[in-house]
Amino acid sequence: MAQQDSAPASKGSSGPATRDQLVEGLQQDLAREYKAIIQYVIFSQKLDTARFQNIAGELEKHAHEELDHALAIARQIDYYGAYPVHTPAAVEVSEDNEAMLWADLRAEDDTIDHYRQRIRQAEELGEFALAEVLQELIRQEQDHQIDLASALGVVPDPKQRAKQGQSEKK
Ligand SMILES: [Fe+2]
Ligand SMILES: [Fe+2]
Repeated sequence: MAQQDSAPASKGSSGPATRDQLVEGLQQDLAREYKAIIQYVIFSQKLDTARFQNIAGELEKHAHEELDHALAIARQIDYYGAYPVHTPAAVEVSEDNEAMLWADLRAEDDTIDHYRQRIRQAEELGEFALAEVLQELIRQEQDHQIDLASALGVVPDPKQRAKQGQSEKK
């Protein structure tokens, strides 16, 4: 029943989206939400230096919001008559505080990118109610991005970050 092994939806430029591509994209969004829940559950407990104490509480709130996102996306997938996936996207873990925050920040960057794409597809297909649901999710993901970027002392917008040479220390 699970569909996550099917061919990836085509990315943007190759003509208008189809409903199948939209649903396949939502399945991948759901897998990313599961991943976000797992990372935030773990990192909110493992982040423990004095420097990052405040953000640990924020990560716990993020975990709850990601669960709400997963439920919202699963509801949409069900609406389109598909069966929601049950496997998270590849989870990234670390024992290092900064590496944990970077893993979450990269995940938020990626999630926001995909939701932008999904909103365009939904609008192309005239699925305006879905587009509205996604707008609310992307707004919250941007808040998460801001929280993480502030904790790391970098700018939230990944394009600006790249320009300013702000990347993870190896
Ligand atoms: Fe989310
Ligand atoms: Fe998020």
